[in-house]
Amino acid sequence: MGFNLFLRGVAMVVGAGQGMGRATALSFAEAGVRGLICADINQSSALATAEEARKIASNKDFDAISVACDMSNHQNVKDLVAQSAARFGRIDYAANVAGSFGKSRKAFADTPDEEWLQLQNININGVFYLVKEQVKQMEKQERLETPLTSASRPGERGSIINLSSAAAVIAVPGGAAYTHTKFASNGLTKAAAQDHGFNGIRINAVLPGYTMTPGLAGFPGATPEGAQKILDANTLHRFAEPKEIADTIVLLSSPRNSYMIGASILVDGGQTITAENE
Ligand SMILES: NC(=O)c1ccc[n+]([C@@H]2O[C@H](COP(=O)([O-])OP(=O)(O)OC[C@H]3O[C@@H](n4cnc5c(N)ncnc54)[C@H](O)[C@@H]3O)[C@@H](O)[C@H]2O)c1
Repeated sequence: MGFNLFLRGVAMVVGAGQGMGRATALSFAEAGVRGLICADINQSSALATAEEARKIASNKDFDAISVACDMSNHQNVKDLVAQSAARFGRIDYAANVAGSFGKSRKAFADTPDEEWLQLQNININGVFYLVKEQVKQMEKQERLETPLTSASRPGERGSIINLSSAAAVIAVPGGAAYTHTKFASNGLTKAAAQDHGFNGIRINAVLPGYTMTPGLAGFPGATPEGAQKILDANTLHRFAEPKEIADTIVLLSSPRNSYMIGASILVDGGQTITAENE
């Protein structure tokens, strides 16, 4: 048998309608999960991802559902987790990918209060509600045994990945509200990991660099000059493909990765390595 990721459980992807969330849902289907929950505030796009996932799934027992969910609404999140548990019995790998970039780029002191609060509501409160409900569900589950399981390497109740950003180690110019929420998401991840790790739940954050998604392309600051600056400033001199970040999320969700907990993993093409790119 070759090197197997042992990802035969149930995956939940929030923000599965487009961009990195869509790519993550498809990568989980390819990797062999038996169940996939595609959640998004935009249900028709989540449904389209679930249908696409069915075509490429490698597990013969695979099934996928799509659920409309606004992660900034706690009741919506409770309903999402309840519906998922009712359908599949458990949630093994959660990926909280959805987030908002905000509507404008402005200097810190010009940030509108509404934008500051709105971004907190989605990028911080939304992740809080998701992690809270996902952990409560995972704590009810038995540990998932895999061929890797042993007395000293127990099976896991679940893995949760929160999408933070390279903007959680540096500041995005004119992006105060966004930067602040992504730093918070690393803290939230560590706090949750600390309190629930003993119980077999691994919680980590992924910090992507600039990734070519509809969300990034639609950002008001996305201009050809802005894009060139980004390419010049990163060591690989290219944007990430959504699938590259998705594949990292799937790899980190595997029980192969059983000792990583509370980590904030940069996947940024070198955006934050140096200030002296050629
Ligand atoms: N694209 C980048 O360059 C980049 C870089 C670093 C971090 N990130 C982060 O990665 C994540 C994904 O980014 P993306 O570029 O793929 O995004 P995107 O804007 O292309 O897609 C986001 C998806 O989330 C959904 N969504 C938005 N608000 C929601 C809500 N309240 N509840 C449920 N779903 C909601 C949208 O409908 C959409 O399908 C975000 O958290 C973003 O902050 C993106």
